[in-house]
Order: sequence, then C-alpha cells, then structure tokens
Amino acid sequence: MNLMLLLVALLLKSAMPASGGSFEEEELYHNERNDLIQLRDSLSSAMSLHSNWTGPPCHNHRSRWLGITCFNSNVVGLALHGIQLTGSLPSTALQNVLQLASLNFSDNALHGNLPSLQGLVHLRAVSFARNRFSGSIPAEFVALPNLARLELQDNVLSGAVPPFDQRTMAVFNVSYNFLEGSIPNTSVMQGFPSTAFDHNTQLCGRPLAKPCPTAAAPPPPPSVSPVPPLGSAGGTFSPPATSSSSKTLRPWILVLVAIVTATIAFMVMFCFLYYSKRYSKKAKQTAHVPEKEAKSSESVTEPKKIVNLMFLDKKKATFDLDDLLSSSAEVIGKGLLGSTYKATLGSGAVVAVKRLKTMHGMSKKEFAHQMQLLGKLRHENLVDIISFHYSKEEKLVIYEYVRGESLFQLLHDNRGEARVPLKWAARLNIVQGIARGLAYLHQCMPSHRVPHGNLKSSNVLILHRSMNYYSKLTDYGFHHLLPSSHSHRLAIGKAPEFSHGKKLALKADVYCFGLVLLEVITGHAAGDGEEDLPGWVKLVVNNDWSTDILDLEIVAEKESHGDMLKLTEIALHCTELEPERRPTMSDVVRIIEEIRETSSGRR
Ligand SMILES: *[C@@H]1O[C@H](CO)[C@@H](O)[C@H](O)[C@H]1NC(C)=O
Ligand SMILES: *[C@@H]1O[C@H](CO)[C@@H](O)[C@H](O)[C@H]1NC(C)=O
Ligand SMILES: *[C@@H]1O[C@H](CO)[C@@H](O)[C@H](O)[C@H]1NC(C)=O
Ligand SMILES: *[C@@H]1O[C@H](CO)[C@@H](O)[C@H](O)[C@H]1NC(C)=O
Repeated sequence: MNLMLLLVALLLKSAMPASGGSFEEEELYHNERNDLIQLRDSLSSAMSLHSNWTGPPCHNHRSRWLGITCFNSNVVGLALHGIQLTGSLPSTALQNVLQLASLNFSDNALHGNLPSLQGLVHLRAVSFARNRFSGSIPAEFVALPNLARLELQDNVLSGAVPPFDQRTMAVFNVSYNFLEGSIPNTSVMQGFPSTAFDHNTQLCGRPLAKPCPTAAAPPPPPSVSPVPPLGSAGGTFSPPATSSSSKTLRPWILVLVAIVTATIAFMVMFCFLYYSKRYSKKAKQTAHVPEKEAKSSESVTEPKKIVNLMFLDKKKATFDLDDLLSSSAEVIGKGLLGSTYKATLGSGAVVAVKRLKTMHGMSKKEFAHQMQLLGKLRHENLVDIISFHYSKEEKLVIYEYVRGESLFQLLHDNRGEARVPLKWAARLNIVQGIARGLAYLHQCMPSHRVPHGNLKSSNVLILHRSMNYYSKLTDYGFHHLLPSSHSHRLAIGKAPEFSHGKKLALKADVYCFGLVLLEVITGHAAGDGEEDLPGWVKLVVNNDWSTDILDLEIVAEKESHGDMLKLTEIALHCTELEPERRPTMSDVVRIIEEIRETSSGRR
C-alpha cells in the first residue's frame, strides 16, 4: 500500500508541471473544493470548520482539513460525525466530489432534507444516523451501485422506504424515524433483521412482525398499534413496545416507585414556590449568554435517565429531580398551560421549568413520545427542551434557560417611561428569527397539524447580544397533547377557521405569525382589548398606504417606510381569513430575507 501511495504521488508530480495540471483536472479539483466550501459555509460547529477548511483540501494523499481523507489528490472520505454540527445540507451537496467513497455525518444536529448524492458512484459507506434530518429518503440512493452501508436511524425521516436492491448492501438501518408504507419486497431489503426497520409507527410488512393492511380488510384502529418511543439508540426511554427485555424492564419499576415517592416532595416544593416567590422581581440583564454555560463538560457516558428525569440530550444529564427540587427557583411566567420557573441548580447551571396544568386524558406514553420528538428538535431559533418528568400529578418540561425578555415585554413594558425604543432594524431581525424557527418546526413535524400551536409575543424570548437580537420560540408542540376542546387556550384559538369549527392545520400557525408581525409593526398587542388588529390595519392601509398604523417608535425612520409597508403586506397576507390563501412559512422566510438584504444594502 505504501508503495502504491508513493507511486501515485510520483505520478502526480510528473503529471503536474509548473502551470499545475491540465485544464480538466484543475476544473475538477476546483469544483470539488467549491462543493466542500459550500458545505462548510452551510454548517456551523464547535470545531469551526471555517478556520480549518482553508487552502487546498488535498495534498496528494494527505489532507489538512478536519475529517477529510484524500487519495490521489481527490477527496475520498468525509468523516464529520459527533462534532455538534448544526445547519442543513444543500440538496446537491458533494455532487462534484466524485471520488467520494465514505461519508459520515452521524451524531450531529443537522436538519433539513438529505442530499441526493446523485452520481457519487464510488460511495460505499454513508451515515446520516442520529441527526434531525426530515423529508423522505432520496430515490437517488437506490442508484448508488456500490453502496455497502447505509445508516439513517434516529432521524425524523418520513415517506416510503425506496426499493434498495444493491447486492453490495451489507449494513442497513432506518429505525427510529417516521417512515411509512410497506417495506419493499426486494431480496436485499428482506434480508435485514426487523431491528433495521423498527420504531417507525407507520411502516409495515416483512421483516417487521406487523403485516400491512390489505385493501379488503379494514386497517387496525390506530389505538391498538403501540406508539413506539422515538428515543435513541439505547432505547432507554421506555421499554420498546415489541421486544421488552428484562434489561429495560427493571429500571422502569424502580423509576415508577421513585416517581411516586417524589411526587409528595414535589407538591411541597411547588406550594413553597408559589407562596414565597410571588413578588420576586426579575433582574433584567441583557448581556450574557446563558445557554452554553449550562452545558457541563462532564462525562458524556452518563446515562440519559437520571432519577425521575428523562433527558433528551445525554450530555445535559447532569442533574436529577432532587437537584431540581433543591434548586433555588422563582416564577418567571404564568400562562394558560401552566407556570414557568427559573431554577438555579447547585452546580450553578440554570434551567427553566414549565409545570403543566393537568392535561386530562394524556397518557404517559403520549407525553413521553411527544417530548422525545420535541427534544430532538434543535434550531437556533427554538428554546431547547432538556428533559421532562411525568407522574400522575406532575408534568414538568425542563428547557434551556434564556436570559432575556419576551418579545411582549420588549414591545410593551415601560411604555412612556424611560424606555429604550426598539428600532426598526432590531424588529426586522427579531421577526426573521421567529419566521425561521417556525419554518423549521413546520418542516420537521410534517405529521403534526399545527406544529407550534401557541405562537404569540409572550412565547418569543429575545436574547440581546452586541447590537443583535436573537429570537427563540418556546411553548411549542403542546397542541398535539391537548384535547381539541382545550385548543382555544392556545394562540391558534385566534385563527378564524377555529371559530368556524374547521380543523386547524399549519396555516393556523401562519395566522398567529401574522398577528405577531402586526404587533411588531403597530406596537399594539393583538387580542387583549384590540378587537381585530388585522381588520383595523387592513382598513387603514386599504387604498393608500398609511403610516398611521406604525408604532410611534419607528415612524421617524423614514428611510425604512418602504420595508415597513412590505412587512405589513406579509402580515396581512398571513392573516387572510381563508387558510389556503396564506403563504407558507418558507415563503415568508424568503421574503423577509430579501427585505433584510436590501435594507442592509442601503445602510
Ligand atoms: C485542521 O484541524 C486538524 C485537526 O485539529 C489539524 O491537524 C489541522 O492542522 C488543521 N488545519 C488547518 C489548515 O488549520
Ligand atoms: C460513523 O461514525 C460512527 C461513530 O460516530 C460509527 O459508529 C459508524 O460506524 C460510522 N459509520 C460509517 C458509515 O462510517
Ligand atoms: C415477494 O417477492 C417474492 C419473489 O418475487 C414472491 O414470491 C412473494 O410472493 C412476494 N411477497 C409479497 C408479499 O408480495
Ligand atoms: C439499527 O439501529 C438501532 C438504533 O441505533 C439499533 O437498536 C438496531 O440494533 C440497529 N439494527 C441493525 C440491524 O443494525
């Protein structure tokens, strides 16, 4: 092998005169590098690929780029597993990295669709396992002639399993997704064990034990089929519905016993909280960044399930229910679904704890399933869910703590007093973040009719850091857990189709987003006294654009009136009475980005 490499190196040297190789070769390398740079720029990571992936990717058979292996001056391997990558991959990512043989993106927090990998005929090993990829498995994967390993487990993929039939395929895993339909009847697919397909609620047919419903027979009622836990590799969350081994059962009994005993302690703590901290005043600090501090550098091998608390990210499993109970806490919010507390743990870490009011009829399984799904979501514009607790009396959701104010406070607190006006640029920045977070939810939870369900200005937390404003959505994903008679308690209850008794869908979230936009533009809170904000704005704007609707704090920024009009138009579009006429969130994100680009161009 060494000799071979040496020969290859010599060959290359002689093939590359001073001018640097033939035009075609250069072109090829150029495209390859471009693809990698594009990839680099669409991802972010603690490891900072940005400063590392510079210069040429390959020096003969060596690479100075993190995670890249080269052979013959071509990139043949990309191993970027477990380095906390976030972002999404361009759909044509790596299409010019023609010699690529192995690709490993496992154990990150990537979202969006899988790239098609079209034309990468040398690919043998591909892993996207344990991320948050959504959408369907690209049909192009079926045409990769040398594929030997395909690992897609533990994502949020939906749609059907394509008919893979590569004889080369030796390892295949699509478990823990949201795939549906029957498993293709190809000899290759039929050759894998059921664990390769497990934990996809809607997937059926051999090798799974669950037969597909035939056209004649009525499909089995959904309540009969157990909802498998979404949980990750170890399946430590709850006993797998199909294969319950004694290994998973025993800790569960222990946990149940512990939950019962802990419940009593709970009641005491929360009574105490209620009465002792009623008047606690929040110190408003704008500067520092809390969410990263909470991340402890402690051992990664800790179990995910710490006494009574289910952790969604095992790296954050650094405290247990007792720690939480003995933390110092203060009430930071009260909403229709329950109260939220800020809890400072003994270790100094700070978390936000939401105590849900009784949700009648919600089973532990439903709750755990939903929390596991929500806990997998990671986006810079969403507040992360760290863990949760379920007992008959108490349902707690533990979030990352965001030090800052809600958009509601930022817009309406201290009006008239010594108030720092919220400039237009900041407002635009904030709504862009909200739109992105919501678009992400819509993309990642296609099986949910209303993925957020409770979008309003008090559920948008704002981090203010060196002139920039970062929005983080919270309180998302509860609609799914509430009986429909309780939906009016959520923000989506304001959507006109709700009062007409129609089924709510994604567009109800879009309506709520429109209301938040109007609130940001006009400075008027939707609801609370203000009868029909969209109607009022429409009336004023109808024939001739009028600045009368603008919040007094931004009227003076005349050069931005054009942008304010554009955003008002989006808001009115989002609050159309007919859900079908409202735009999708991805359209909205695009338009807001265009507005921001042109406005920063002017400055
Ligand atoms: C990139 O990171 C790797 C591993 O940390 C290091 O060996 C390499 O020198 C770095 N390359 C550059 C160009 O900084
Ligand atoms: C990807 O990396 C993981 C380690 O995070 C490893 O377990 C897995 O086998 C690798 N898969 C491939 C296809 O290289
Ligand atoms: C699957 O294919 C085999 C061979 O082509 C056939 O014998 C079998 O009946 C098929 N099974 C189903 C369920 O379609
Ligand atoms: C597939 O992945 C899941 C989750 O990591 C694992 O439990 C299962 O054993 C794997 N099955 C196969 C066939 O690799």
